[in-house]
Amino acid sequence: MNTHEPKIRISGVTKRFGRKTVLEDIDMSVAKGRKTALVGPAASGKTVLMKCISGIHVPTRGTIEIDGVRVTKAGGRDHTRLMQSVGVLFQQGGLFDDLPVWRNVAFKLTQTRGMAEAEARETAIEHLAAVNLPPETADLFPGELSGGMQKRVGIARAMAGDPSLLLLDEPTAGLDPITTRAINRLIDDSIRGTGATVLSITSDMEAARHDYDDLYMLHEGRIVWHGETAAIDASDNPYIRQMIDGKAKGPIEVVV
Ligand SMILES: Nc1ncnc2c1ncn2[C@@H]1O[C@H](COP(=O)(O)OP(=O)(O)OP(=O)(O)O)[C@@H](O)[C@H]1O
Ligand SMILES: [Mg+2]
Repeated sequence: MNTHEPKIRISGVTKRFGRKTVLEDIDMSVAKGRKTALVGPAASGKTVLMKCISGIHVPTRGTIEIDGVRVTKAGGRDHTRLMQSVGVLFQQGGLFDDLPVWRNVAFKLTQTRGMAEAEARETAIEHLAAVNLPPETADLFPGELSGGMQKRVGIARAMAGDPSLLLLDEPTAGLDPITTRAINRLIDDSIRGTGATVLSITSDMEAARHDYDDLYMLHEGRIVWHGETAAIDASDNPYIRQMIDGKAKGPIEVVV
């Protein structure tokens, strides 16, 4: 895996909130043009790591580079430029409640690329169609959508502007199996031939194993396994085995 050119390179990243250490000395290389899954039990630090990559959190220690460019504090001009080619789906949706759906989807197109309103609306409607949402959805407000529809709008927004890097936090959690398949296919379609890179957090271990090339597993803020998904079956790493088998017994303590 390390022979691939890295799209994202993370070196020695530690993240603390006050005295609580959430990420500890993370080294990670996300290969360009490939799909990487980030898995791990609840509260293992997956979302915090993704927020460090997208510049929302600043690591306490260590560095993160995208295309060799250091991810700097949010607000910097370099950061804005860097993020123009990154599509992000937040776990909690993160839609603007006071903007209609199409403006949410087209936000990056109108705000940072200066696309004209009519064209941006058309483009938004195309991206909505790709996630199985009809054109009428465009003029609704996020509060008028079901949870699954909000998730699909979030994905449409992440895809807008043909990003070279997609950061997706649980793209299919809580969706029905048909939409889940459609979304997984959409992610594949959107990167086929474009050379785009995908990093997805997922709890769907079946999808992680079969739809992704590489996998990193976090546990209590540390990487406990990484490699090509093709190598998972042969691995006797107790963390990855427990994650695959979904057993309560193992190194991962299940807190209920
Ligand atoms: N802003 C914050 N301030 C303090 N602690 C935080 C903050 N954000 C996250 N944490 C803590 O960091 C830990 C990891 O959270 P994170 O959201 O990354 O988990 P996760 O792996 O994404 O879990 P899940 O699968 O449930 O989404 C948790 O203990 C959480 O309480
Ligand atoms: Mg999370």
